[in-house]
Amino acid sequence: MSLELRPRTAQAPGPEVLFSAAEIAARIGTLADEIIADPVMVEAARPPLAVCALRGAFMFTADLMRALSARGLDLEVTFLQVASYGSGTAPQGPVTLLQDTDSTAAGRPVLLIDDILDTGHTLAFLQTHLRAQGATGIVSTVLLDKTERREAGVSADHIGFDCPNVFVVGYGMDADGRYRGLPYVGVL
Ligand code: XMP
Repeated sequence: MSLELRPRTAQAPGPEVLFSAAEIAARIGTLADEIIADPVMVEAARPPLAVCALRGAFMFTADLMRALSARGLDLEVTFLQVASYGSGTAPQGPVTLLQDTDSTAAGRPVLLIDDILDTGHTLAFLQTHLRAQGATGIVSTVLLDKTERREAGVSADHIGFDCPNVFVVGYGMDADGRYRGLPYVGVL
């Protein structure tokens, strides 16, 4: 069975561009500079562990790790998966841990990487979880910050872009499983 690829056309244009691939690449470079200079990273007694929150942050994590590596910081990475959205576009209840990390953060600083900071419940949950694992410090970074919708009293240490209150897809993020592979962040 062959995969039928349909080029985007004027008739099927795909999600509108909010942040282009070039804008994301440029911002990730400066974000990597900021993260490397973060006091928690600079003063770490043990090598920091990168923790990627699946699934939405996988592409951001890959590009950020390449940018950090190009600047001389090679991090070990691990993954965990949380859920609060289901197949909808709004949180559907408390954050639950679907899959935990396979490397413990005990005794190490963590670079926590997520796609979007929205109500803040996910980041608050992850920070509590990693502290309970014994992380000595947490530096958090998100590609997008939707400040308008904040409910939990949290903020990320390093933010890619401020994001308007719209449901976004692409660059790892989905709408019911679609659009994760788009190289840009778009709005449906
Ligand atoms: P909270 O509300 O806990 O949400 O800060 C963070 C998580 O919710 C997901 N999220 C989105 N996913 N498009 C998406 O594809 C969006 O516009 C969006 N807003 C929130 C995301 O998984 C994030 O980690």
